[in-house]
Amino acid sequence: MTKPDTDVLAEALGCPLHQLNPMHPELLKQPWNMNRRLRHEAPVFQDPVSGIFFISRYEDVVRMATDHTTFSSKMLNSTRALSSTADAEVLEIVAQGYPQVATMLTQDPPLQRRYRKFVDKAFSPASLKALEPFIENTANELIDQFIDDGKCEFLSAFGVQLPLRVIVSQLGAPMSDIALFRKWTEAFIGNLSQQLDRDGLIQAAKDMVEFQHYFAARIEERRLEPQQDILSKTVNASIDGDEQLSVAESLSMIAQILVAGNETTSASLTEGIWLLIENPDQYALLRENPSAEMISRLVEEVLRISSPSSNMFRRANETVEMHGVTIPKDAILFARFASANQDEKQFPEPEKFDLMRDNLKDQVAFGKGVHHCLGAALSRREMNIGFKVILERLENFRLAEGASSPTFAANALLHGLSGLDLAFDKVS
Ligand code: HEM
Repeated sequence: MTKPDTDVLAEALGCPLHQLNPMHPELLKQPWNMNRRLRHEAPVFQDPVSGIFFISRYEDVVRMATDHTTFSSKMLNSTRALSSTADAEVLEIVAQGYPQVATMLTQDPPLQRRYRKFVDKAFSPASLKALEPFIENTANELIDQFIDDGKCEFLSAFGVQLPLRVIVSQLGAPMSDIALFRKWTEAFIGNLSQQLDRDGLIQAAKDMVEFQHYFAARIEERRLEPQQDILSKTVNASIDGDEQLSVAESLSMIAQILVAGNETTSASLTEGIWLLIENPDQYALLRENPSAEMISRLVEEVLRISSPSSNMFRRANETVEMHGVTIPKDAILFARFASANQDEKQFPEPEKFDLMRDNLKDQVAFGKGVHHCLGAALSRREMNIGFKVILERLENFRLAEGASSPTFAANALLHGLSGLDLAFDKVS
């Protein structure tokens, strides 16, 4: 018989550390108490099941992110279900697509820097400034669709839609294809989640091949007729007189932009509204003064607490000693950004949602070092504009009648709510 979830959570607090299974779905959903315990008792903890070393303290996570020579990001095969499977049926499906290429997130400098240069222009301040009216219009259009109902499931009605529509427009696709983008994002997340069964893996392989062929055609179109979008700027960029990206390289970059850019921002937008419901004093502070400065504080504190990219992989390039633990060469590690953002040494009373913290900018939800999030500025714009429009038009946020408190989804790398049944009033 499987144990009730509450038992798993209680056990994680009391059991000897070597009995802890940090990948248990319930602990992936509610990791906070376990993380506190790991930070205090075992800042370098080897998961007995997966063998992964969990690094949980702020200073150590920052060290890992900024020392890319020791802690490599190059490990496409060991961390992606579809790249490491030996299942013949899955491999046959994958063979119908383009080869997987390690580009930004799964590459080390100098190659990683080279790939980043191809997208720098597309994510430049000038390109992003030009996107602001589109983000604001989209936020308003989404709210128009549910404002008269006085309630909505916020994650699907707004949280998912805003970043998804921005990315669909920027990847040069018509809005009518939005359901495909959602499906592909889920396939990529599934591939990363370490939770797919065989049927799930086969479906994810089919979806990823479909994604590749769809975008191979869009790349071709944008090469022939460039537009003012991220896709055109990326596939037509030529760096230092270098040749352009190949189709397989472009597909890898697009896949990273799609996955990294959707689920994360959706999660932070949604958890932000839930945090305001749970913390009426902070909500009141914001309503008294909904200035750009206060909304920017809201965004940073929501990013700190939500930390949707909760863990990122690294591989030890050499044997490393940390806190008396020997991490062997080629060991896989987790840089636990979400735990770092809750480190009491860096953020006093870390579980407190506090818009007036004096070190909000120390949060590491977007990572650090050479891999610092490519979309950080875009995501900040989406969140600042999204929350501004929401606060201008909706008020008195609360859980919808009869709805139970929202719960988190189980995923080894990403953390976010499964949904949020929201009720609100119109701002009169
Ligand atoms: C709340 C929203 C977001 C969060 C929390 C987030 C978090 C992160 C983190 C932690 C990293 C560093 C990974 C590492 O060190 O291994 C990263 C990298 C990356 N992010 Fe984001 N991200 C967000 C939004 C976006 C958006 C909107 C995009 C694109 C449209 C994006 C694209 C990327 C890419 C391509 C990388 C890899 C960069 C590289 O390795 O050079 N992210 N992100």
